[in-house]
Amino acid sequence: MSNASIADRVERLRAEINRHNHLYFVLDAPDISDAAYDALMAELRGLEEQNPELVTMDSPTQRVGAPPAEGFAEVVHPRPMLSLANAFDGDELAAWHRRATNLLDGADFQMVCELKIDGLAVALTYEDGVFVYGATRGDGYRGEDVTRNLRTIRSIPLSVPPEAPRRFEVRGEVYFPRSLFDKLNEERAAQGQPTYANPRNTAAGSLRQLDSRITAQRALDIFVYSMYGLEDAGDAHIPDNQWDTLDYLKSLGFKVNPHNALCRSPEDVESYYRRWVEEAERLDYGADGVVVKVNPFRLQDALGSVGREPRWAIAYKFPATQAVTRLLDIGVNVGRTGSLNPYAMLEPVDVGGATVKMATLHNEDYIHSKDLRIGDWVVVERAGEVIPQVVGPLPERRTGDEREFSMPTTCPQCRTTVVRPEGQAMSLCPNPSCPAQLFELLKHFVSRGAMDIEGMGEKLCLSLLEAGLVRDIADVYSISKERLLNLERMAEKSATNIIDAIEASKERELPRVLSALGVLHVGSEMAETLASHYRNLWRLSRATEQELVAIPGVGPKIAESVATYFQDEAHRHVLRKLQSAGVRLVDDSPIEPVEQPLAGLQFVVTGRLDSMTRAQAEARIKELGGAVGSSVSRKTSYLVAGEEAGSKLDQANKLGTTVLTEAGFLEMARTADRP
Ligand code: IVH
Repeated sequence: MSNASIADRVERLRAEINRHNHLYFVLDAPDISDAAYDALMAELRGLEEQNPELVTMDSPTQRVGAPPAEGFAEVVHPRPMLSLANAFDGDELAAWHRRATNLLDGADFQMVCELKIDGLAVALTYEDGVFVYGATRGDGYRGEDVTRNLRTIRSIPLSVPPEAPRRFEVRGEVYFPRSLFDKLNEERAAQGQPTYANPRNTAAGSLRQLDSRITAQRALDIFVYSMYGLEDAGDAHIPDNQWDTLDYLKSLGFKVNPHNALCRSPEDVESYYRRWVEEAERLDYGADGVVVKVNPFRLQDALGSVGREPRWAIAYKFPATQAVTRLLDIGVNVGRTGSLNPYAMLEPVDVGGATVKMATLHNEDYIHSKDLRIGDWVVVERAGEVIPQVVGPLPERRTGDEREFSMPTTCPQCRTTVVRPEGQAMSLCPNPSCPAQLFELLKHFVSRGAMDIEGMGEKLCLSLLEAGLVRDIADVYSISKERLLNLERMAEKSATNIIDAIEASKERELPRVLSALGVLHVGSEMAETLASHYRNLWRLSRATEQELVAIPGVGPKIAESVATYFQDEAHRHVLRKLQSAGVRLVDDSPIEPVEQPLAGLQFVVTGRLDSMTRAQAEARIKELGGAVGSSVSRKTSYLVAGEEAGSKLDQANKLGTTVLTEAGFLEMARTADRP
C-alpha cells in the first residue's frame, strides 16, 4: 500500500472502531461480533506498529494504559467544581423550591431530575475535536491530571464530531459497575487477596492508579451531566438549558444517564424521587439520591451560589443506609469449605428501615485492616438486599476498654486445629467431617443453584444431620420416606414431596452436580467451564494440576483446589455413592455443533490474496458460518480485498462497507476460530 492509502486506511479503521465503541459502550447495542471487532483492532494496531508516525492521541489503540507514572500533575479547574446542598425529606426540598422561586420573583421554572451517581466527579477537556486531558475534582478548585487513566474508559469518546465547540469541558461521574465490583471481589477472595470495601472507593482507587494498565483492566464507566464552552465568548453551540445540554452531550457521543427526567413541579420531582428510592437498588451502579437542577441556564445564573453550593441545584438524598452502633462481639462461623468466617454481633440498630444486628467481617485481615476492636462504636451500612457491612470504627469514641480480636486457633465446632494456608486471608478448619462444614455443604448441595431439591430448607438439613440420617452429601439419596416421617413435625404430604424432589434432582446436569460438590473456588461458572471440558467427573477427578491450568479460565488456585479435592479418598467415596444412587456424573448428550462465529455475516472476496486462493478464503468463511456473495451490496458486511481489487473495492467504498485486508481477514478467522 502507498503511504497515502495506509494513512487513509488507518483513518477509516479508526472511524469504524469508534463507531463500534459507541454502539457497544455507550448505547449498549453492538452490531458486529467480538471477533470482527478484534480483527479491526488487530489491523489498526498492526498498521500503527509499522507506521508509528500515524499514531494519534485519539486512536482507539491508545486506551490500553501506560506504564506507571511518577505521580499526578495538578490541574486548576477553569470553573470551580461545586458541591451540592442536601435535602433529606420532602419539606426540605419544598423549602429549596420556594426559596428559588422567591429569588426569581415568583417565576415558574422547570427542573431536571438526575440520579446522583455515587462515584467520583471528573472534568474532561476537549480541544479541536479531541479529548486532551481530564482531571479529578480534588478540592473543587484544583484536581489531579488523570488523563491516562480516563482514556481507558471506553465510554469516554476520544474524539467528537466536527460540529462540537472548539474548546469545551464536560463533567461527569466515574463509577465502578456493581456487577463487576462483586466479580472483582470474588476473584480477589479466591486468590486470597483482601477484598474492597465498596465500588466508590474502588473507582477512586482505580482512577488514581499510577499504572494505567491496571485501570484499563478495571472497566470503569461514566455518566456525564454538564458541559461548558471554554472559549472566551462562551459558545453558541451549547444549548441554553440543562435538559437540552444532556441531549446535546448524547449527540456528541457521550454516555448520559437514561433515567434523567424533565419535571414541571415539585410534585413531579417528588414522584421521580419516590420511584428511584425503590428502584435504585436494581441499577448496576450506586445512586444515593436525586440531583434536582433548575433547567434554564439564565435562571441558574440569576440564582448563583452561596460559597461552594449553587442555589440552582440540590441533592435530594435517599434515606440513609448507614448508622452508628456498638460492636458487641465478634463471632466465628464455619463455612462449607471449612473457612472460618468472622461476623460482627451488633447492638441492634435501624438502618434505612431494617434492623441490623449482624454483619459479615470476611476474614481476619479485614478486621485488622479496619482496625476494628470489640466494644468499638462502628458505622454499619446496608444497601438493599446485600449483607450489612461494617464500614469502620469511630476511634474517637474509644474508652480504652476495647479488645483486639484474634482468630481462634481451633475450630469453634469440632476443635480441630485451624490452618491458614500460605498467602491466604482465610483460616480453615481442615477436618472434612466437621459438623459445621457438613451443615453448610448440605445447604449448598440442595440449594436452588445446585441440586435444587425443593422443600429441603435449612431446618430440615439440620434435623437430618442431628438425626444422623446424613453423614455426607450423598446420603441425601438414601433417605427414605419412613425415616423422614419419624422426624418431628413432618407431614405425610411434605415427606412425599421431598422424596419426589430428591428423585428429580438425579436428573441435574453435570455442571450443577459439580458445583453442588462445593469444591473450594468452583462456583457455577467454573463448574460450567470444567464440565464442558471434561464431560465426565471421573475424568476430571484424574486431572493433574498442570492439566487443569492449561484450560482457559482456570487459574493456579483453582487447579490446585480441584486436584486436591479429588485426591481425597473421602471425596471419591462420595462420588461413588452419588453414582450408584443414579446421579449423573457423565454428560452423554451429543456434543453441540461448533459455534459459527461468522453466522449472519455476508462476505465478498476480491483481488489477489497472498496466502491462499479466493476459493480457499471462501471455504474458510463458510466453515465459520458466514455467507459468501459475488457482488458488493448493502447486505455485504465485509469486503475482503486483496491486491488489485478493482471495482468491488470502489463499490464498497461508495457504500461504506467495511473493507478487510488479507491480514485483517486472517486475524478475524483466527480469533473467530478460538474456542
Ligand atoms: S451536578 C453544582 N449532577 O455530586 C453541580 N453532580 O455533591 C454539582 N454527582 O461533585 C454537580 N451525580 O460528584 C451533578 N447528576 C449529577 C451528579 C452529581 C453525582 C456528584 C458530583 C458532585 C457531587 C456534588
